[in-house]
Amino acid sequence: PTIDKLLGRQQRAEQLQRVLGIQCCTIVPGNSDESQDVLETMGKTAESVLLDQLPEGESIIAVMGGSTMVSVAQQMTQALTKNRQLTFVPARGGIGEAPALQANAVSAKMAEQTGSKFRSLFIPESISKEAIASLQSDPAISDILDLIKSSNVAIHGIGEAIQMAERRQMSQTLIQTLKKKRAVGEAFGYFFDEDGNVVYKLPRIGLQLEDLAKKDFVLAVAGGSLKAAAIQAYAKIAPKQTWLITDEGAADMILKK
Ligand code: F6P
Repeated sequence: PTIDKLLGRQQRAEQLQRVLGIQCCTIVPGNSDESQDVLETMGKTAESVLLDQLPEGESIIAVMGGSTMVSVAQQMTQALTKNRQLTFVPARGGIGEAPALQANAVSAKMAEQTGSKFRSLFIPESISKEAIASLQSDPAISDILDLIKSSNVAIHGIGEAIQMAERRQMSQTLIQTLKKKRAVGEAFGYFFDEDGNVVYKLPRIGLQLEDLAKKDFVLAVAGGSLKAAAIQAYAKIAPKQTWLITDEGAADMILKK
């Protein structure tokens, strides 16, 4: 890449960070809607941001699922654990995702890549409130839920609302409700409209949106022009210490508006 291109991207990243009102943005070239390589570049960028930003010593890292998180996990290396002891935990339960995309799989993969520990949480998200309450009183489950609560770092994806609802095979009635309420994005099991109002959330288990504010570092990774509105809306409810890694596909769309 020419210096001009790099500088241009750097300036747009600063502009994006101001528009979104978060700590920092990094923009990688390309549009991940069109090329798998861009997803890989976002993963590599996540590794280098984490190398710089993760505190030294012990950290408990809560992670979400999704294909972007899988790519982030694949690009992690042992360099991350040079001065650090990491434990990876899923931020929430399964959320109806395919097994390979679930937070449990991502946290296990991140632990494998970095030579760290991980813990799993086996609770489907589509479970009744009553069942959650009784599961939470089980010591094995409450132990891992405490660990998730005490995490100091979170790494997560952001999705387009209807695409996510369909991927999780949510009911047609619920999908219609999401459309009626003009949901544009989803993160952590929370669906929100373009003003950042939460219009629906999956049953409460694991990390909650309000817990994020207390984390030392929050890394969001999401790209592709189809996610532009979701990213922009999520930024309205994101904690200020959020660092966003995105691509030109999403960034150009947001900055064009
Ligand atoms: O279901 C987990 C999750 O992280 C969602 O919260 C998010 O919307 C989605 O995955 C992102 O998925 P992908 O990276 O595949 O677009």
